[in-house]
Amino acid sequence: MAFDVAPLPGQDSFGAVVTGLSIDSIDDAAVRKALNDLWIDKGLVVFRGVEGIDAQVRLSAVFGQPVEHYLKAADWKPAHPLLTDIEYDDTTGEGDLYEIDGKLVGAWLPWHSDAAFAAEINHGGILRPVELPAGDGGRTGFIDQIAAYAALPEHLKERIEGLKVLYFYDTDSSQAKFGWRADRLVRLSAKMDMARKHKTVRARSIHPLVYTQPETGRKVLNISPWWADAIEGMENEEGDALLREVIDHCIDPVRAYFHTWSLDDMVLWDNWRLIHCACGVPAGSRRHMHRTTIVGDYGLGRLEETAKEARFAS
Ligand SMILES: [Fe+2]
Repeated sequence: MAFDVAPLPGQDSFGAVVTGLSIDSIDDAAVRKALNDLWIDKGLVVFRGVEGIDAQVRLSAVFGQPVEHYLKAADWKPAHPLLTDIEYDDTTGEGDLYEIDGKLVGAWLPWHSDAAFAAEINHGGILRPVELPAGDGGRTGFIDQIAAYAALPEHLKERIEGLKVLYFYDTDSSQAKFGWRADRLVRLSAKMDMARKHKTVRARSIHPLVYTQPETGRKVLNISPWWADAIEGMENEEGDALLREVIDHCIDPVRAYFHTWSLDDMVLWDNWRLIHCACGVPAGSRRHMHRTTIVGDYGLGRLEETAKEARFAS
């Protein structure tokens, strides 16, 4: 085999660690298929010892077509057109700053699936650190939604079958209706402020709450806590209580893996199956990540026909 595979530390239900992969070996169709099969089977792959922008973009292309960020603005100038910079730097005002439990925390993101607010959700991405602060470097959390569905009580599985969830984009996660949220937004970066005004995020998206992974037949609890707005057809107290119960189950940290970064790591995740979060760093730190966006469409999302403009008035 062209690489070695080990379990994710402390996790037996999902994820894998790949070592010994030479980037040039991915030109071999058998190696590409083995990596793809591993990704679909395990949902999350940590690559150790694969470094650099070129390797990150080439490796991403094994799993689909890497594309520019969905909300990319004209003045975003990443080091490569297929990379998104995820930066936190107080000296330049880059990155959002929140207050959480009385502390100022930068580079923090609550549990979410990328692009759940859109009709088409990208299949995945590869994250790679460029600069990490001292301490734990700002860990990234992942939860497997196949395991989360399997652990749902039977009565909840029955109640949510066939339901759909409405999502609405809002960059200020302290205003999130469900899930883990910050106490207060202190500073929204200019990049996020531009993203929230992007014309393509003004209508709510609609996605099934449960779907079946086509390659394996496993059911996925398909919920992004951040941006979730309501259950379609149940925009009332009963619907919100049900959605809250499902989301509280889904973000239970007992099923989470928190990745502590090294500069020679890359992490690939299946965005149709895992939710992720950024645990944040103390204010005053600097942190810089590169992320690719691997395109795809699972074909089950759509947009509401009427735009929801109210939150963009300010
Ligand atoms: Fe994300």
